[in-house]
Amino acid sequence: MSRLTLWRNARLATLTPARGGDGWGLIDRGALLTEGGRIAWVGALADLPALARPAQEVDLGGALVTPGLVDCHTHLVYGGQRATEFEQRLQGVSYEAIARAGGGIRSSVAATRAASEAQLLASARQRALCLMAEGVTTLEIKSGYGLSLEAEVRCLRVARRLGTTLPLTVRTTFLGAHAVPPEFEGRPDGYIDAVCAWLPELHAQGLVDAVDAFCERIGFSPAQTRRVFDTAVGLGLPVKLHAEQLSDQGGAALAASYRALSCDHLEHLSAEGIAAMRAAGTVAVLLPGAYYFLRETKLPPIEALRAAGVPLAVSTDHNPGTSPGLSLLLMASMACTLFRLTPLEAVQGITVQAARALGLADRGRLAATQRADFVAWNLDHPNELAYWFGRNPCHRVVVGGQERTPHGHGTPL
Ligand code: NIG
Ligand code: FE
Repeated sequence: MSRLTLWRNARLATLTPARGGDGWGLIDRGALLTEGGRIAWVGALADLPALARPAQEVDLGGALVTPGLVDCHTHLVYGGQRATEFEQRLQGVSYEAIARAGGGIRSSVAATRAASEAQLLASARQRALCLMAEGVTTLEIKSGYGLSLEAEVRCLRVARRLGTTLPLTVRTTFLGAHAVPPEFEGRPDGYIDAVCAWLPELHAQGLVDAVDAFCERIGFSPAQTRRVFDTAVGLGLPVKLHAEQLSDQGGAALAASYRALSCDHLEHLSAEGIAAMRAAGTVAVLLPGAYYFLRETKLPPIEALRAAGVPLAVSTDHNPGTSPGLSLLLMASMACTLFRLTPLEAVQGITVQAARALGLADRGRLAATQRADFVAWNLDHPNELAYWFGRNPCHRVVVGGQERTPHGHGTPL
């Protein structure tokens, strides 16, 4: 029997431009044919191959359909929250000063260590459901609030568990080099030794898809970052980097020399960093939520990145310290208002370019052979994804060819 499903009566934004078309790749009166978890065919219904004999048909009611959204940078697993630190920052204490005084990331580490695996799973699951309600079908989750082998394992296991129990893809990233934990106070190189020793163990347990570090004055030096990357590359793991968020450390060029999948934040990125990222094909992941919540004023060099042809992704950076937001669509909006991306760039940034930042070539567009992850929206045009905020237009979500429930809570116009 045919495993084909025909999803008809859709207006498609394929993000695969036809010759002479714009980047949206719009197809009116469109349809998708899926086979198992993959897209077998995309086009205008009138062009459906005569040989296609779908076993079932689904009427999408004329809805706008885009690829499933990809949130490519989150720190979803942690204990506690940092609302009091937010109040301190509003009183004028800087993020760096709070970190140097032992707060910041370290306070989340204490709360994470104190939480059970079940508690971490329950809170991270609620956050994942918020992102999913807006059409997220692929989610990256970093560790980095455990900072001991046992606690990092716990956080990565929770991330993996979300991927096996919820209808979405989870990619895990080991961010052991996020901060120096209290037991290594004053011994950052000793802590990097430990991180490098844990990584083969975590990898052997199948817990790591990529390796990240925080290269910053209040994080780790380029030399320390290099040691983590050497270990990752030795295990065949791809790397990414929190780079030039608060200062220019030359982190982007360093990461690019390891063919990093992405460099993230980039407010203080230099021209050399841009050139290195371009040469390496490294994606720039823009995080307007962190820029907004830290009340930053220095913008990432968007125009220079665009001119160099560096791919631009956009993500929530969800975390308790710098970006407690759980709306990828709000990030698309802020990528336009704060960073001056076009709505098309912002939507590409939460789909095809975000997938690229995770090394995933099989999603982010609607095209034959891509994963059958797509979203039907209560919208007329896909540029509205970066326009509305505080409203969830998500109507139906299909993951791996299966419609998932609960789907979004879309309100028809
Ligand atoms: O992506 N910059 C480093 N890591 C996080 C924030 C971590 C925290 O403050 O808890 C970020 O902004
Ligand atoms: Fe981050």
